[in-house]
Amino acid sequence: KQLSVIGVPMDLGQMRRGVDMGPSAIRYAGMVERLEQLSYTIEDLGDIEIPRPKHQTDVKHDNLRNLHEIAEGTSRLAEAVDQVIENGRFPLVLGGDHSIAMGTLAGVAKHYNNLGVIWYDAHGDLNTADSSPSGNIHGMPLAASLGIGHEKLTGIHDYSPKIKPENIVIIGARSLDEGEKVLIKEQGIKVYTMHEVDRMGMTKVIDETVDYLKDRTDGVHLSLDLDGLDPNDAPGVGTPVMGGLSYRESHLAMEMLHQSQMITSAEFVEVNPILDEKNKTAGVAVGLMGSLFGETLK
Ligand code: ARG
Ligand code: MN
Ligand code: MN
Ligand code: MN
Repeated sequence: KQLSVIGVPMDLGQMRRGVDMGPSAIRYAGMVERLEQLSYTIEDLGDIEIPRPKHQTDVKHDNLRNLHEIAEGTSRLAEAVDQVIENGRFPLVLGGDHSIAMGTLAGVAKHYNNLGVIWYDAHGDLNTADSSPSGNIHGMPLAASLGIGHEKLTGIHDYSPKIKPENIVIIGARSLDEGEKVLIKEQGIKVYTMHEVDRMGMTKVIDETVDYLKDRTDGVHLSLDLDGLDPNDAPGVGTPVMGGLSYRESHLAMEMLHQSQMITSAEFVEVNPILDEKNKTAGVAVGLMGSLFGETLK
């Protein structure tokens, strides 16, 4: 299989600097070498250029911090991802904060009638300007991709919506804002919170997820926010939440997704090397990629 890697040095979707260095941190953790051992052909397309904001703490755009710069950067990403799929290759996107998912999904979803999305995250990222407690756009990409929110975000790559609520599965949620809970109910989005993961175990969660998406989708995008993992296992993230998915559960999930042969694009986001412990979180991201792309011990 042929992979195309795209780095997205985006830190404008939230307040903590450093997540723009995520793509470098992941590359330094040995991503290419690791995946080449699995006999993938990898081309690294380098990084998308992200505009610098005129004023770093601007929340003027109606509780949408850095709206214009994020819309522009994610539009460029959408173009690049679109082209990768056009060329018949698998897009592997490195973040960068989670606002980049709007661009990735914009580029991917064009190529499918029913794109599935696995949102592996402590958060729902289903806020809009009205419901967001922070004005941080990294808390909004899933809503925007559903066509809910400001038109500059919903309209990236000139179409909307990108995805349908019934094609989404959220795994690992444990921090949902009130407006997000309402949206999940209204839209009928499937969510495995930590409660379900604890009760059922990751094996059943992924089995059910694969069953659920298998018949209704023609491709599945994995959007993996490293803060889905427990902060003990992935400390280098800007919005850590205790009680998360373990390193082992996450590897199991990736291995099972590999076996499902269902994943057609992926992104790994929110790696912040400034907040990390000796690049541990980037290392975890690379390990999870290994499992997602078929690493086994025998
Ligand atoms: N729900 C919170 C907010 O809207 C946190 C979002 C965190 N998102 C993330 N991609 N880490 O601000
Ligand atoms: Mn501005
Ligand atoms: Mn998150
Ligand atoms: Mn997220």
